[in-house]
Amino acid sequence: MKRSIPGDKIEEVRQRTDIVSLVGEYVTLKKAGRNFLGLCPFHREKTPSFTVSPDKQMFYCFGCSEGGNVFSFLMKLNHLTFPEAVRHLAGKAGVIIPERSMTPEERDRYTLGEQIRRVNGLAAEYFVRALQSPAGEGAREYLRKRGIEAEAIRTFRIGVAPEGRRRLLDFLEKKGIPPKLVEQAGLAILRAGEGERGQYDRFRGRLMIPIEDVDGHVIAFGGRIMGAGEPKYMNSPESPVYTKGNNLFGLSRTREAIREAGFSLLVEGYFDLIALWGAGIRNVAATLGTAMTRAQVDLIRRYAPRVAAVFDSDEAGRKALARSLELFLTGNVHARAVILPDGHDPDDFVRTRGREKMEELVARAVPMVDYYIEEILGGRGTLEEDRDKLREAVAFLCRIGDAVERNFFVKKVAERLGVDEGVLKDEVRRVLSHEAPTAAPMKKGSGREPDHLELGLIHMMLEHPERIPAVAASGVLACFTTEELRSLGEKVLTAAEKEGGAIPDLFSLVNNFEEGPLRARLLDLLMGETPYPEDMIDRLMADTIRKIRERSNREKGRILTRRIKEAERVKDQELYDRLVAEKNRLLREEKGLS
Ligand code: UTP
Ligand code: MN
Repeated sequence: MKRSIPGDKIEEVRQRTDIVSLVGEYVTLKKAGRNFLGLCPFHREKTPSFTVSPDKQMFYCFGCSEGGNVFSFLMKLNHLTFPEAVRHLAGKAGVIIPERSMTPEERDRYTLGEQIRRVNGLAAEYFVRALQSPAGEGAREYLRKRGIEAEAIRTFRIGVAPEGRRRLLDFLEKKGIPPKLVEQAGLAILRAGEGERGQYDRFRGRLMIPIEDVDGHVIAFGGRIMGAGEPKYMNSPESPVYTKGNNLFGLSRTREAIREAGFSLLVEGYFDLIALWGAGIRNVAATLGTAMTRAQVDLIRRYAPRVAAVFDSDEAGRKALARSLELFLTGNVHARAVILPDGHDPDDFVRTRGREKMEELVARAVPMVDYYIEEILGGRGTLEEDRDKLREAVAFLCRIGDAVERNFFVKKVAERLGVDEGVLKDEVRRVLSHEAPTAAPMKKGSGREPDHLELGLIHMMLEHPERIPAVAASGVLACFTTEELRSLGEKVLTAAEKEGGAIPDLFSLVNNFEEGPLRARLLDLLMGETPYPEDMIDRLMADTIRKIRERSNREKGRILTRRIKEAERVKDQELYDRLVAEKNRLLREEKGLS
């Protein structure tokens, strides 16, 4: 997937992008010594072990061993290819990467995902323009009636899909987009049995709401019918860039407000979010009508550790609450339940009662666990029902990962259901002991421990590139026993020579390693506090070099001794003399070393 972004442009983007501010857009970071710490976006954790180093322009997670530079961070986080990550950061840094006109073959080298995002972006622009056109009057009127103002329309890029069979397809075709790709993006449907030009627009005569990833790329659309009819919303199908349960609507526009507030409101619908936003409540994300998923909990938690989820007071709302509670509990998200009065959704609540009433409701929200115990487990019922409730309660308690927290809720549930606390605790313990133990924290790879002397020397070279000439002069790399470390050492030497004693992109050097214990150990070392005091480094380095050479000489000596014995046995005098001379030289060298 090599594409020709010039190397110097990549370098310029890397230099102009600060890893702390980039990561800070997605992860809440706190200063800790020279580094910054936050909760890892790549695995689930309770206490921060995700480290970002401004000095080294690298990130590393001590929990899951994921690590890298600005590019790999974006690639991993948003599932981008390398060129996509470079282009995205170039856009932010104001580095212009020449967009040459492409041959079809070159275009093919874009991933399908890239192409779909681009097509979606063009479609969004088209829908927005259609809304402003005379033909968009009906849709504008619809938005007026719903109280959606110009600022919200602009921010969420609301548009309209015109009536007509191939309006969007024709527009995109003029831009050189083949109908097949429009179909892959989910914007066109192929009528069965028709070939070539059998496609027609999926969205016709609907109000169009783009669904964006956190960086604002359009990954799908929701289209609302403006009169009566079914379905109320038509949505893009899943595609290489869009998986329903992996995204939250609105987050690209609200994540800053969520971070500032320290919590996110969670609602269900497009218009719930848009209306709240219009009313000035901007720390909101929307699930789009489906049950909350683990991926969504993880996503929201990057921006704030607390949520206030809005539920209906009806039966469906209770079910949804019970289901999502488990995800919040296991996802370490403190969730409160906002219960709206019967028959309301956040959109019409905020429109009819106003922002303040909505905020009051949010402020009064009770912890979801309490609500669950009180209202769902606690409601009176017959004995039969109580037995079901007991079972449900035990299942619920077993899902609380934290033992201290669990004991606390055992007490609460026991009180509420009127059962003996000891009995309930035993029951929970019994069920838990039958379940598989929770997975150990993932450390990638396994295998032999990396050689600590060689690793140490490489570490010193990376921490103190100005000392690298001493390493080069000693020739110690030839004595390395770990092939990967030797070749890394050589790369470091070359890089430092070229850059006059500095290493511009530490990570790309480390990145040459396969994932495994060695790479993890190296990142581990690099992201720790610098362990070598300035006044000790020369001695430490010399010591390490000496030790590696001594060890290597000892090994050579052992081999020579064996070969000398062998030469003696076969009576090869010439070989014998040569080997003995070599051994003497080695002994002299050893003396010189110590
Ligand atoms: P609702 O049925 O609660 O609709 O669906 P709503 O959000 O209040 O919509 P308006 O106010 O009538 O316009 C909640 C969410 O479920 C998804 C949409 O994302 C919607 O916002 N949904 C609903 C669909 O995807 N398709 C549907 O047919 C209905
Ligand atoms: Mn609604």
